Amino acid sequence: MGVLEVRGLVKRYGAVEALSGVDLDVGAGELVGLLGPNGAGKSTLVKISCGLVHASAGSVTVAGAPAGSIAARSAIGYLAELFRYPGWARADEVLELHQRLANSDGGAAERTELLELVGLAEARTRRVEAMSKGMQQRLGIAQAMIGRPKLLMLDEPTSALDPVGRRAVRELLVELRSRGQAVLLNSHLLSEVELVCDRVVIVNRGRTVTAGAPSDLVRPRGVEVETAGGPRLFEGAGRDDAPRIVADLVAVGEQVYEVRVLRSTLEDVYIEAVS
Ligand SMILES: Nc1ncnc2c1ncn2[C@@H]1O[C@H](COP(=O)(O)OP(=O)(O)O)[C@@H](O)[C@H]1O
Ligand SMILES: [Mg+2]
Repeated sequence: MGVLEVRGLVKRYGAVEALSGVDLDVGAGELVGLLGPNGAGKSTLVKISCGLVHASAGSVTVAGAPAGSIAARSAIGYLAELFRYPGWARADEVLELHQRLANSDGGAAERTELLELVGLAEARTRRVEAMSKGMQQRLGIAQAMIGRPKLLMLDEPTSALDPVGRRAVRELLVELRSRGQAVLLNSHLLSEVELVCDRVVIVNRGRTVTAGAPSDLVRPRGVEVETAGGPRLFEGAGRDDAPRIVADLVAVGEQVYEVRVLRSTLEDVYIEAVS
């Protein structure tokens, strides 16, 4: 059974249809990227799953319980897209408050473990206002992990980060997966999703347009061979065709300098899916 099961989800805000029948599954311990342009409905899907917004139609279950129920809420860790902790609060205090909200009895040991996991052990008593954006983001992820939820929903957790901060969060996501916690990662940063996600779901205008493992979504684009006469592209050919292509060229007297197998990137797949 999936940790998150979304079926035919529809959400209308007045005349705006934010979701028009979305299906999505996240399996236990799976890291799934939810991709789509701004306004595609990603945050709405997450908010409905957390019980913060009511669906107009369709259903969402979290760990088998209907979204919004206490059982569903306690299975989720959530980091909102635009979160802000009070500037005067210290890292440890932010976590302690959320332990109380989440009814976690992990105490100081849990806070220590989480701060270490997100690389903030040294900043335990630092106030939020004295933290960089990247540190606040990592504190936010630690907050979402309180109580070891089965499913983490992270809404654009790296959008405000520089490349170093992004890499740190990516490594953290991989760590989460190794702990068996599932993650739904909302993002519009393709490269990062491509690097870490087991599966991606692309939504556009409230509908799922593409879903699958990144390696299954990218397709071969052909084999390019550098010959004395310049580059030649063999469209539709894949890696397995390369030896035969080279042998044929050599047989007719061509000089071969380089052979490249070209694949589309997740970006190509995405652009095709949302345009
Ligand atoms: N509270 C709201 N009231 C009215 N419209 C909303 C509200 N929240 C989102 N929308 C609209 O729903 C659509 C999807 O928004 P959202 O789920 O935030 O997309 P994403 O997270 O993919 O950028 C957008 O057109 C947005 O303007
Ligand atoms: Mg959003």
